[in-house]
Amino acid sequence: MYRIGNSEVTAVREAIKSGRLFRYANMTGAKEQSRVEAFESGWEKFTGSAHCLSTTSGTSSLICSLTALGIGPGDEVIVPGYTYIATALAVLKAGAIPVIAEIDESCTLDPKSLAELAGPRTKAVIPVHMMGMPCDMDSILRVSREKNLYVLEDACQAAGGTYKGKILGTLGDMGVFSFNFYKIIASGEGGALITNNRKLYERAFMEHDGGGALWPDNDDIKAPFFAGGNSRNSEISGAILLEQLKRLPGILSDLRMVHRTLSGLLEPPGPVHIAPSRDTEGDCGIQTTLLTDDTVSMRKLLNLLGEAGVEADSPVDSDRHLFYNWDPILSQRGAAHPLMNPYKMPANAECRLDYPEDMLPRTRDIVSRTIMIRHNIDWSEKDVMKTAEKINRCIQKAAAS
Ligand SMILES: Cc1ncc(COP(=O)(O)O)c(C=O)c1O
Repeated sequence: MYRIGNSEVTAVREAIKSGRLFRYANMTGAKEQSRVEAFESGWEKFTGSAHCLSTTSGTSSLICSLTALGIGPGDEVIVPGYTYIATALAVLKAGAIPVIAEIDESCTLDPKSLAELAGPRTKAVIPVHMMGMPCDMDSILRVSREKNLYVLEDACQAAGGTYKGKILGTLGDMGVFSFNFYKIIASGEGGALITNNRKLYERAFMEHDGGGALWPDNDDIKAPFFAGGNSRNSEISGAILLEQLKRLPGILSDLRMVHRTLSGLLEPPGPVHIAPSRDTEGDCGIQTTLLTDDTVSMRKLLNLLGEAGVEADSPVDSDRHLFYNWDPILSQRGAAHPLMNPYKMPANAECRLDYPEDMLPRTRDIVSRTIMIRHNIDWSEKDVMKTAEKINRCIQKAAAS
């Protein structure tokens, strides 16, 4: 979360005063849209999607989307080895098996690895726009068309980012967002999914509110009934998100100014590079990513940056975001009830169930050489220049030592 303040406080107060805290406006006797519905309309307009469903989290948005796409036992879904574990956990919740793919130096899914891994059981891929950095969507979409895969974009960390002018989350069949505390816009917890396909939307809706799909208010949901759960978002979250949505263009423009200016001022000598970007303009601007030659150089530079007061870290230290720390997955504990564990389901017997110890050497290598310099949204151009000087000095020191 970057910015929150009086407008959110006022919006929450008004929501409480209204006494209508339920997302279905009609059931509370209101004539106007509920706040959640208004956010859905706003997010549709902002992203240019036909349908948005507001949910309680990025994880529930992923699960609802996978259900909508008909993913289940017998299916594999490809996920990158560098993403928050929830991307892979959602696949297991759907009863399918996550197959973990390499990232490339942009720290996003490597399309070559996708092409290599897509097999007869693979039904979908989840490219993740990590840290607001767009994936190579042209290549991913091309491979997915060739291999007949659904594309579910995980834009949980990339609200408002773009790829070749298109909003992230709109390039595949479905896209999901998280609005938890750590995200670009936030309501504490919250999420959304988008799609242009009405049938997918209706199935996602049913998964998100199994009971609600039967109510007269929702008689426009025509998909055949199945048992869903409850991921309905609340009006308090809706009230906050409506205000956060107004702030999003300003947040992105300030982050991108820092990103543009800093990248332009850095003078990495030979052994340090700015990591390749699949769309520099569309990147959300959360951080500047540097690539060093090896782990030793990475650690040296990271220490120097720390001493100089520059906020930076390496993805190699980000525990649950790296596949080799995904214990429930690597040890195949796929569900609480043994009969619901996708790794033990007969329908999944032909899926690739094993995760060899030495898997994904390229991902291991890349994350161990990568440094992310965190941007402060409130930096002025002068602040960015001062930071760039510090970073350049650290890079020179590291290269000289
Ligand atoms: C890439 C990614 N996918 C999915 C999620 C899950 O979102 P949530 O925490 O809202 O369930 C997150 C959250 O951190 C994430 O970063």
